[in-house]
Amino acid sequence: MDVLSSLMTFFFFLTLFLSSPLTSQTLTPNCAAAVSGSTSTLRVFHVDSPCSPFRTKQTPSWEETVLKSQSNDHERLQYLVSLVAGKSFVPIASGRQQPVQSPTYVVKASVGTPPQSFLLAVDTSNDAAWIPCGGCVGCSSTVFTSELSTSYKTLGCQDSHCQQVTNPICSVTGSCSFNITYGGSTVAANLSQDTVNLAGDNITGYTFGCIQKVTGTSVPPQGLLGLGRGPLSLLSQSQNLYQSTFSYCLPSYKSLNFSGTLRLGLIAQPKTIKYTPLLKNPRRSSLYYVDLLAIKVGRNTVAIPPSSLSFNTTTGAGTIIDSGTVFTRLVQPAYEAVRDEFRRRMGTATVISLGGFDTCYTVPVTIPSITFLFAGLNVTLPQDNFLIHSSSGSTTCLAMAASPANVNSVLNVVASFQQQNHRYLFDIPNNRLGISREACS
Ligand SMILES: *[C@@H]1O[C@H](CO)[C@@H](O)[C@H](O)[C@H]1NC(C)=O
Ligand SMILES: *[C@@H]1O[C@H](CO)[C@@H](O)[C@H](O)[C@H]1NC(C)=O
Ligand SMILES: *[C@@H]1O[C@H](CO)[C@@H](O)[C@H](O)[C@H]1NC(C)=O
Ligand SMILES: *[C@@H]1O[C@H](CO)[C@@H](O)[C@H](O)[C@H]1NC(C)=O
Ligand SMILES: *[C@@H]1O[C@H](CO)[C@@H](O)[C@H](O)[C@H]1NC(C)=O
Ligand SMILES: *[C@@H]1O[C@H](CO)[C@@H](O)[C@H](O)[C@H]1NC(C)=O
Repeated sequence: MDVLSSLMTFFFFLTLFLSSPLTSQTLTPNCAAAVSGSTSTLRVFHVDSPCSPFRTKQTPSWEETVLKSQSNDHERLQYLVSLVAGKSFVPIASGRQQPVQSPTYVVKASVGTPPQSFLLAVDTSNDAAWIPCGGCVGCSSTVFTSELSTSYKTLGCQDSHCQQVTNPICSVTGSCSFNITYGGSTVAANLSQDTVNLAGDNITGYTFGCIQKVTGTSVPPQGLLGLGRGPLSLLSQSQNLYQSTFSYCLPSYKSLNFSGTLRLGLIAQPKTIKYTPLLKNPRRSSLYYVDLLAIKVGRNTVAIPPSSLSFNTTTGAGTIIDSGTVFTRLVQPAYEAVRDEFRRRMGTATVISLGGFDTCYTVPVTIPSITFLFAGLNVTLPQDNFLIHSSSGSTTCLAMAASPANVNSVLNVVASFQQQNHRYLFDIPNNRLGISREACS
């Protein structure tokens, strides 16, 4: 992004927020880690929620929150594409000065005996858990002090978990560590084990990376909880407890005071929910691929070239569900087809382009829904999931975009704006994903 377009994006978002029906009533957020009376259920907060210490004083407005989300997405996409291509991520110079922080949602967890608390970022496209540890160079002030935990241990090179790490490094003392890239950051960590407590459940001997050094700003300040499905993920490490099953409902973007839920295990999951198969890409085992067959704008099915949607394990092409990207991104031909149909339905109304969105109107948008047709499951999104309104209410944009041109993406990403107020149930033993509408906040 050059300076001019950054500025334009900035001014756009200064005037943009989600016009919300919230009026007189003030919502005081409940910042408790767990949902009381509900087994194994964690509250999910937006990083800019009043419950989050990461909310920055300089960006108090929703407008700026959205601005940040959109610029984060660009880097998130590059990262996801690099995962798919199996290359390490090299950030494209952007001249942007804002620190990038991804992903967008956090849950409260504790580590060690006695427990030390952290707000971990939830990332469905990653397996690993990392926590900043004492002595870390480049971490924030909240770190795990391993010396204070009686259940902590570092893992040696001979440990079987060390073999599950990509490019493990064996130190002279025989301890196992690793260096990886995450977004635009690099992370150096020691492979460690301790008890992790999530919503009252103790997971003993949980293997995670104890971060010793970080460069860049993409790594969540208090650590990461990977909900991917590879060997070192939460799902793999808590199979007896949670049977590789979880669901989440992401809070509405209408207020940062809303919270959602992350429900771990089989208990209290929806019984009547429609499913689509999860596809496995052996080259990228942590990503949740699904079979997106078509997209409808209103009642019309959009003519998308089949190659833009088809799953290909060689190239990594296809569609993934990601919690760390905010606005859904489609490969260029797919996005253009959706956008063109959207514009066609809007008839003679003048299209304007604002910030990163190219399909905006100053008249009311009459399109009632956009439907994702997955194999065996149609998800019809209401306007709240595909329109973003300006603060004055005068401008409305289609809240999706094409993959950034400089990324060469083959990947479609169903992102969090499109997921809000829906429950996503990941049923790994049966290789399927359930989706249903739910007012989670
Ligand atoms: C959100 O919560 C904060 C702090 O409790 C409160 O000051 C604010 O008015 C709330 N916002 C809304 C939209 O209810
Ligand atoms: C989990 O471990 C903590 C100590 O670290 C203990 O206080 C708590 O009772 C344990 N919870 C369960 C459900 O076993
Ligand atoms: C992490 O590993 C490095 C290199 O092996 C070692 O110097 C350091 O003490 C370890 N840190 C912890 C907390 O175990
Ligand atoms: C891993 O990262 C550490 C800290 O930045 C660095 O000292 C070390 O040389 C790196 N090791 C490898 C094998 O890249
Ligand atoms: C996947 O992509 C490769 C490389 O473009 C191509 O050769 C192959 O035919 C594709 N496979 C399928 C099943 O479409
Ligand atoms: C989804 O919608 C399409 C077209 O409207 C229809 O043909 C198909 O049967 C629907 N699928 C399901 C699972 O309802």
